[in-house]
Amino acid sequence: MAPDQPRVFISLPLTGDQLASLGEYEIIRRTATGPIQREELVEMLATASGHLGSAVLAIPNDVIDAAPNLRAISNSGVGFDNVDLAYARQRGIAVCNTPGVLSGAVADLTLGLILQLARGLGDAQAMVRERRWIAGASPPPLGADLKGKTLAIIGMGRIGLEVAFRARAFGMRVIYHDVRPECPAPDGASSVEFVEALRQADYLSLHTNLTAESHHLIGADALAEMKPTAYVLNTARGPIVDQRALYAALKEGRIAGAALDVLEVEPPAADELFLSLPNVIITPHIGSATVETRDAMARLAVQNLADCLAGRACANIVNR
Ligand code: DGY
Repeated sequence: MAPDQPRVFISLPLTGDQLASLGEYEIIRRTATGPIQREELVEMLATASGHLGSAVLAIPNDVIDAAPNLRAISNSGVGFDNVDLAYARQRGIAVCNTPGVLSGAVADLTLGLILQLARGLGDAQAMVRERRWIAGASPPPLGADLKGKTLAIIGMGRIGLEVAFRARAFGMRVIYHDVRPECPAPDGASSVEFVEALRQADYLSLHTNLTAESHHLIGADALAEMKPTAYVLNTARGPIVDQRALYAALKEGRIAGAALDVLEVEPPAADELFLSLPNVIITPHIGSATVETRDAMARLAVQNLADCLAGRACANIVNR
């Protein structure tokens, strides 16, 4: 290793094969285990030119200030709300993400959650595991067909599109709202005003970035527009939903249920109110968590980092 070889901090457990295109850099890996603390991040980034890590690892401005050589932050994930993009740009640091490669996996999970809500798969499985499947016992309540039900998608980006394609294959009616006036949408999906999406949804699924505008987009006012039989799904970012407002709506039966792969605080506190509600499914932020997708994300994040540090064109910089 050359004495002045530039260093990159890789805070995810990537394999040597995945890291191959960073061959000219000294790779700094984590020595600690468990969640990364601020002190560790500061120490590891102190001499690093680049960082590659999860899109949910917050890199605050004061950590950036303590990393004078930092030139690129490469998120393995599509989100980029973990970094103050304008501040990073001002400091000459490129921030990149991994769009596209995870859209199918997140869409698969979304449809899985819709199916679970519609067919009560959790309760059905519990009935068998708990030995309540006995001759003559009352079965769980009947589920609902997806065919003909309305799926309202908020955010018709890459993931929204994949969700829409899948929902159409299940015979669902798809409507969507996107802040961009013209965005690609599958045949048969209609663009509607935000409030119409809320009013017409049997399933309301969120696929937008977390920004100042989308923070608490689904709050008390939005929930009040929804049908009492409707479900909310969030596989995007927790703070897009005002959790207190959602809890109140669920508790009072103002909507039928929710499926949340993301929460305002992850993981939830032991006394998180949602954990006591029977009409909520919570999964631990697993939207992109498949072997194939995580591998594709890792490779794209490595490529992004290598390109940015070498001054090559990189299509995935989000703070140009
Ligand atoms: C993403 O892709 O941003 C995920 O939510 C985090 O891995």
